[in-house]
Amino acid sequence: MEFTIKTASPAKLKTGLLVLGAFAGGKLPALTAAADGATEGRIAHLIKRGDLDDKAGATLLIPELAGVHAERVLLVSLGKDDEFGDRAYRDALGAAAKALAAGPAKDAVVALADVELPGRDAAWRLQQAARIVADGAYRFDALKSDKDKKAAKKERGAKKLTLLLSGELGAELDTAVLQGHAIATGMALAKDLGNLPGNLCTPTHLADTAEALARQYKFEIEVLERADIEKLGMGSFLSVARGTHQPPKFIVMHYKAGKAKAKPIVLVGKGITFDSGGISLKPGAEMDEMKFDMCGAASVLGTFKAVAQMGLPINLVGLIPATENMPGGAATKPGDVVTSMSGQTIEVLNTDAEGRLVLCDALTYAERFKPECVIDVATLTGACVVALGKIPSGLLANDDELAAELIRRGTESGDRAWQLPLWDEYQDLLKSNFADMGNIGGRYAGTITAACFLARFTKAYKWAHLDIAGTAWLSGEAKGATGRPVPLLAAFLIARASAA
Ligand code: BES
Ligand code: MN
Ligand code: ZN
Repeated sequence: MEFTIKTASPAKLKTGLLVLGAFAGGKLPALTAAADGATEGRIAHLIKRGDLDDKAGATLLIPELAGVHAERVLLVSLGKDDEFGDRAYRDALGAAAKALAAGPAKDAVVALADVELPGRDAAWRLQQAARIVADGAYRFDALKSDKDKKAAKKERGAKKLTLLLSGELGAELDTAVLQGHAIATGMALAKDLGNLPGNLCTPTHLADTAEALARQYKFEIEVLERADIEKLGMGSFLSVARGTHQPPKFIVMHYKAGKAKAKPIVLVGKGITFDSGGISLKPGAEMDEMKFDMCGAASVLGTFKAVAQMGLPINLVGLIPATENMPGGAATKPGDVVTSMSGQTIEVLNTDAEGRLVLCDALTYAERFKPECVIDVATLTGACVVALGKIPSGLLANDDELAAELIRRGTESGDRAWQLPLWDEYQDLLKSNFADMGNIGGRYAGTITAACFLARFTKAYKWAHLDIAGTAWLSGEAKGATGRPVPLLAAFLIARASAA
């Protein structure tokens, strides 16, 4: 997809589709009013007649509209004028994106980013517009047979997008659009990896993808094999990899575009390419969705792609412990005691609490980079979905400033996170009679006890944990990876880059 920003009279633009916003009740933003003028009030008339629903994101396609040069016009409701905020704006963009992706127009002009939004500048509006429109065009048809694939592709969808403004243009607006597009590109990679099933998206595939990315964007990468991982003493990570025939991989990525002496930010992604539960086998229902258990890793790779494409001047390290979690003759058994890289011993009371077992060694490994901060991303607990549903990611941190910063960037990007307490009192729940700790904390507060477990390995630096069990994918009819939390991480890193 190709984006340009323009200031022009909307009625005069030759395009396949012109997308205009309108408020419930008929108030028209500047560019829509201009188009309305050129059509002798046809747009206002249609709205007054009730043809466009009030709800933000409702649409009305006008196949031909005398007075405008566009082949078609799409009116998008912005909802009530006095309720117009981030959410209504995103709903409007989402609806436009859907129409753009499915419709016959090859190119389109979108005027929505020109609409004033309380507390948001043009750069923010453009970044969101570029991201949501580009993301709306995402499809996963790699595994459909050729015939279906051709039918699905059938040359639908706009490829050239013009974002229309009435104000002045400037370099920072171009940057905003590039960023929005880069974030969507990163999300697409995260979604592709998430959607790819466990038989194809193996630890080796994750490593190959990371290597291809490093080649494309010229950053450094190391892929540690089983023998290297053994040498490091990652007994906890390796205990998860015992039941599978797939070789484990520990992926280490170095993106160095910041000052030579600037401490890196480290991102750690859980890379369980299929979570059967191991010997503590999961029940059968929806077990297929455990192919998404590497979405933390996918989001780290997606964020690297976005960051590299944006060329952010920061130092970033990415760590991905990747393995399957399978039962088998050699698999770790409930009650087994393993020794982590940190030296702390762990009684594996439940082999299905494997995410923390792979993450803890990666978090210990992170120490060597003397990081500015560490953020891990993991589909860690079903309890997080129970607590927060599928709206925000769970956030726990050993540093309240870092947590507040992430919550802010979540709100800003529309990829929100919500904090849960990481109080010491919960640590008691991890007590083991046979080792330094157990790997589960019992029935209550499962998301918090999982984070408490990780906290025992993150004492050397500022650390935040994102539990994306609820946000990384959708179930049911819309089953598929979401690309979250790439937007949140990208927003965080963009802000850190401009602060530096
Ligand atoms: N990958 C799962 C978490 C998960 C489950 C995410 C369902 C999304 C939907 C994780 O490895 C896991 O199995 N966690 C257990 C922990 C429990 C054994 C303490 C869980 O949440 O049930
Ligand atoms: Mn599990
Ligand atoms: Zn898991």
